[in-house]
Amino acid sequence: MSQRDVSSAGGRLFTAEGQDGLLHRAFLRGGGFSYDDVRRTPVIGIANSTSDLNPCNKGLSDLIDHVKRGVRDAGGLALEFPTISISEPYTRPTSMYLRNLMSMDIEEAVTTAPIDGVVLMGGCDKTVPAQIMGAVSANKPSLMVTAGPRPVSCHRGQEPFTVDDAWDFFDRHRAGEVDDQEWEEFEGNLNTGVGTCNVMGTASSMAAVAEVLGFALPGSALAEAAAQKRRDIAYRTGFEAVHAVQRNQSPQALISMASLENAFRTVTALGGSTNTVIHLEAIAGRAGLQIGVENFRRWSAQTPHLANVRPGGVCTLPELDAAGGVAAVLHRIQDLLHLETLTAQGGTLGDVLAETLPAANPAIAERDHPLSPRGPLVMLQGNLAPGGAVLKTAGVGDPTLFKHRGKAVVFNGLEDLNARIDDPDLEVTPDSILVLRGLGPVGAPGMPEVGHIPIPTKLHKQGVRDMVRISDARMSGTSTGAVVLHTSPEAAVGGPLAYLRDGDEITLDAENGRIDHGVDPEEFAARAPYAPPPKPIRGFAKLHAEHVLQAEHGCDFDFLRHALPVEDRN
Ligand code: FES
Ligand code: MG
Repeated sequence: MSQRDVSSAGGRLFTAEGQDGLLHRAFLRGGGFSYDDVRRTPVIGIANSTSDLNPCNKGLSDLIDHVKRGVRDAGGLALEFPTISISEPYTRPTSMYLRNLMSMDIEEAVTTAPIDGVVLMGGCDKTVPAQIMGAVSANKPSLMVTAGPRPVSCHRGQEPFTVDDAWDFFDRHRAGEVDDQEWEEFEGNLNTGVGTCNVMGTASSMAAVAEVLGFALPGSALAEAAAQKRRDIAYRTGFEAVHAVQRNQSPQALISMASLENAFRTVTALGGSTNTVIHLEAIAGRAGLQIGVENFRRWSAQTPHLANVRPGGVCTLPELDAAGGVAAVLHRIQDLLHLETLTAQGGTLGDVLAETLPAANPAIAERDHPLSPRGPLVMLQGNLAPGGAVLKTAGVGDPTLFKHRGKAVVFNGLEDLNARIDDPDLEVTPDSILVLRGLGPVGAPGMPEVGHIPIPTKLHKQGVRDMVRISDARMSGTSTGAVVLHTSPEAAVGGPLAYLRDGDEITLDAENGRIDHGVDPEEFAARAPYAPPPKPIRGFAKLHAEHVLQAEHGCDFDFLRHALPVEDRN
């Protein structure tokens, strides 16, 4: 059942009899479409999120013609239209601030346009979840071409060199270990082509999610952005989009607790990004579902980490793709999956895995020798995070930090952090717990990827490379470390983080999924909370502040979640 009742007539607008049909065809003819073109059905929209301001999605512009050819060869008419594009590196305060806005753009464009279905072209972190969220709400048949990762590069003989290498480089620079010449060389070596971040960060994790939820073609997540394989994927997606319309493949029907479980287990086996927890909950909400901390916890605990790729492993995405990609990983955990869920081609996940022949490969650990027997995304709760928090254990060099007690060093927002983190007089030891607050969904606004608090330079110089860090922010999927994220409720709405003070004892116990402070509850409650900055008074910022939900609800807007209860899904 669609929650919308304002859906357009779709492509029937062009085939209608009489004056209306003639007028609509005539407008298209004026744009260069032929007599035959304007009578083709179905009509497939192509939602183009390319932009000079979004280098990760830049390669999509070369793929659009291949999508159009696919649509045409299957008998349809392809009509391209522009959408908002959200760039992770360039959007301030964070791309997440615009994710829900982009989802609204997609929903309204797809709903109101004279199209029968759509191919969504997205890539950089937030564009993929925004497109899936919008597609689920619009509920017209929707397929997706993700941008694909940019090439792996080389820096001063360090090869392979990937985007996650930047974090250590920046720490070395802050410690004075990088000269001006290397600084300039690094700028040219970091990104040597178009595409999304070339590790299992948020973009690649969400591309895998798009595959497993049935929006992107099986095998499409990891092909490099400019590779011939991706052009083939684009062509086949256009072709399949026509069939998706013919079988009336509803995005809402693709989203069930079974497909969401498959998606999260996929992220877990891939060692993927913490951000997927938020995006999956937001996608679930658009279909009238809620995943919840307990399900995430259970699925994570049962699912081994198998993909040995950066940043949580050693191999590269091209190596994982050559080893069979997402399907080869899923083949090894198929007893944990719901094999009846649908793919973008209309078959089942079980059909795809039945055709997968996973050979032994260093990029994928075998089930009996996993990178870790349980998933690297650990859900936490406790008196510091009643609504939940998340910790990624993959790639953390010092596992003793997963059970750690230390004293809080509290920073109020980014300005305070930047002003004091490298102060030689900062009272901090390797055992301290760095706390950054005021950067949650409401606070920043939009929950920027700054939870990966830098190690204070004076400790970095002593050889400290990791510390327990806690915030209500997110972090880049390319980052690693003993970093507790998405702490909910956030400080800006009066969550426990707002009451924390320097020197308070905090205990992280990842094994038992706990994050707690040790302050007497009465004393804690009697404290004056941290005072957040004033709320915005106009525009989208006001809408965002008034309607954005906390992390456990996917940071969606309250009015965008599915309006009707969905009772017939498992
Ligand atoms: Fe765009 Fe990583 S910054 S995908
Ligand atoms: Mg990111």
